Amino acid sequence: MSEPEVLGVDEALKFWDRRHQVQGELRSGGDLTYDHATNEVFYALRLGRLIDILDLATAPVWQRHLLDAGCGKGFFARGMGRFGHVVDGIDGSPHAIEECRSLGGPNETYEVSTLAAWAPAHQYDAVYSVDVAFHIMDDDVWAASMRNLASLVKLGGQLLVVDHVTDADKVWQNYQKTRAYSSYDALLTGEGLSRTGFVQYGFLGSPAGFHVFTRDA
Ligand SMILES: C[S@@+](CC[C@H](N)C(=O)[O-])C[C@H]1O[C@@H](n2cnc3c(N)ncnc32)[C@H](O)[C@@H]1O
Repeated sequence: MSEPEVLGVDEALKFWDRRHQVQGELRSGGDLTYDHATNEVFYALRLGRLIDILDLATAPVWQRHLLDAGCGKGFFARGMGRFGHVVDGIDGSPHAIEECRSLGGPNETYEVSTLAAWAPAHQYDAVYSVDVAFHIMDDDVWAASMRNLASLVKLGGQLLVVDHVTDADKVWQNYQKTRAYSSYDALLTGEGLSRTGFVQYGFLGSPAGFHVFTRDA
C-alpha cells in the first residue's frame, strides 16, 4: 500500500494553528476521537505520568526549570507552573501561544518557536515534548528538532519525548509519522544522552508513551 502524501513543514504548522483556532481547550492538542470528558482524563493521567517520571512529587521544594516543547494550549505547562516549577512553553502555533499567555501563571513564559529553532541562553533541568515528534513529518526536521532539544538538557537532566513504541518508522496519516524505538536511541545516544526507559501512556490501549533519556556527557 502506498504511503499518504504528507504535509510539508509550513503546511503542518498552518494545519496546527488552524486546529488550535477551531477546536476547544483539550481536543485541539488532544485526541479528536475522544470527547472533552475523555480528553480530560487522558490529560490528567499524562500529567501524573510526567510528574512521576521527572520525580517532581518527591522533591517539590526543588524548583526545576522545564521546557515544554510543543506546548499546544499549555495544559502541561500550566500544571507544572502551578506546582511551583518554572516553565518555558514553545509552540509553532501563534494561536496556541496567545491562549497560553492569556491563561498562564507567573511561573510560565511562552514563545512562538519551532522545536528546531528554540535557542535560549540557558539549559533546562528537564525538557519534555508531548505528542509533537510524531507530527514532524520531515525526517531531517525531526532529527534537527530532537538534537536541539537534547542540547538544551543540563548534565544530569532529562529529555522526555512521546512517540509510539514501535520497531519501524511508519506514516499513519498526512500529519502523523511515528519513528522506531531504535531511531531515538541512535540519534540521542550520539548527543550524549542515555536511555533510562520507556513509559507507556497506559490509556485505552494507546501505543504511545514517553521515551526517557538522561544527559550523562
Ligand atoms: C498534538 S498537539 C500537542 C500539544 C501539547 N503538547 C498537548 O499535548 O496538548 C501537537 C503540537 O505540536 C505543535 N508543533 C507541531 N510541529 C511543531 C514544530 N516543528 N515545532 C513546534 N511545535 C510544533 C503544534 O502546533 C501542536 O500544538
